[in-house]
Amino acid sequence: MAKETFISKEIIKNWFFCKDTKKLNKLYKQANKETKKISQNKIYLRGLIEFSNFCQKNCFYCGIRKSNKEIKRYLLSKEEILSSSLWAYRQGFGSITLQSGEIDTEKRLDFLIDLLKTIKKMTKDEIGITLSLGELSKEAYKALFQAGGDRYLLRIETSNSSLYKTLHPQDHNFKRRTQCLEDLKSVGFQTGTGVMIGLPKQTIEDLANDIIFYKTMDMDMIGMGPYIPDKETPLYKNHSGYDTMRTLDLTHKMIAITRIFLKDVNIVASTALETLYANEKNLALQIGANVIMPYVYFHNSDKYYHLYPNQPNFSFTKEKYFEKIKEQIKKSGKKIAYFEKGDPLHYFSRRRRKK
Ligand code: 5AD
Ligand code: SF4
Repeated sequence: MAKETFISKEIIKNWFFCKDTKKLNKLYKQANKETKKISQNKIYLRGLIEFSNFCQKNCFYCGIRKSNKEIKRYLLSKEEILSSSLWAYRQGFGSITLQSGEIDTEKRLDFLIDLLKTIKKMTKDEIGITLSLGELSKEAYKALFQAGGDRYLLRIETSNSSLYKTLHPQDHNFKRRTQCLEDLKSVGFQTGTGVMIGLPKQTIEDLANDIIFYKTMDMDMIGMGPYIPDKETPLYKNHSGYDTMRTLDLTHKMIAITRIFLKDVNIVASTALETLYANEKNLALQIGANVIMPYVYFHNSDKYYHLYPNQPNFSFTKEKYFEKIKEQIKKSGKKIAYFEKGDPLHYFSRRRRKK
C-alpha cells in the first residue's frame, strides 16, 4: 500500500470505524514498527511536576478552572520544585515537565526564568525541560526559551474551531491558540500539541482532522489523551453519552495512526490514559507512544484536586509510583532510556528544512 494512500482522510476514518481485531492488530504492529525506527524499544522519561493549579482561564472541562471553588489552590516553592527535579535527575530521568494553569503575569514569568536557570545549572544542562503553561505572549515564550526551556506543550484540545467554542468561554480564541503554536516554533522550542479524545459531540471526522492538523502544523511532539468527565465542571452535564471503552479504543487508534502518519515525532502515553487502564500493561507504549510522564511531585493530601478525577498523584509516594511505572514499561516489552533527553527527531528535520 502506498504511503500517500494510507494518509488520506478516508483511510484514517476507516481505521477509526474498524472493529476487526485482526486488521487492527496489523495497524498496531505497523505503529510499533515505526516507533522502533526512531527510538528502538526505548521509552523516554519526563518527570511531571504540576507546580501550581492557579489558573486565569475557565475551560468548561477542566477541574482547575478559575471558577471551581471546591479545590485548594497551591503554588509550589522554588525549593520544592528544585528538590523534585533533582530527584528525577538522580533517578536517571532525561527530562522534566513543568506544568501549571495559565498565569500570564510578570511575577510568574520571573519566577519561572529564575527556576529554569537554576535547574539547568544544577543538572549541568543534562536534563531537558518541557514547559506546559498555556497561552503566553511571544516575548514571554522567548524569555522562557532563553532561560533554558527546551520544549513546550500546548494542546489545541480539538482542531474543530466550532467544537472548540463549545468547550471554552467566549474569551478563548482558537486562532490565538494556533498563533501561540506558531510563536513557540519560531522562538525555537521543540513544540507539541494534542487533543482530548471522547469529548461530547466530537466526531470521527474531527479526530481524523486532528491528525491532519498535527501534520499541517509541523508538530514535533504529540500529547493526547482521553477526556475524563468531571462532576465539578460545566461540561459534565453533557457526559451522558460518554463511554469509557469507546474512548480507550479511539485513543489507541489515535496514537497508532498518528505514529504511522507523522513518523518521527515523540508521542506521549498520557497520564490521563493511565487512569483508564484497568490492567498493569501500558498498551499505548506498544502501539506508537515512546514517552511517559510519571509524576515526580506528590501531594500529601487529596484536597489538592487536579485536572480530572482519579489523578494518581496523592495516593502514592513518588518512589512507589516510579516502581509501578518501571514495572509497566517492562511488561510492555520496552526499556527505559535512562539519562537520555530523547529530543524528537522531527525537531531537527523541521529546522533543517526551514534553513
Ligand atoms: N479530561 C482530560 N484531560 C483534561 N485536561 C483538562 N481537563 C481534562 C479532563 N477533564 C487536559 C487538557 C489540558 C491539559 C493541561 O489537561 O487537555 O490541555
Ligand atoms: Fe486552565 Fe488549562 Fe484547565 Fe483551561 S485546561 S482551565 S487553561 S489549566
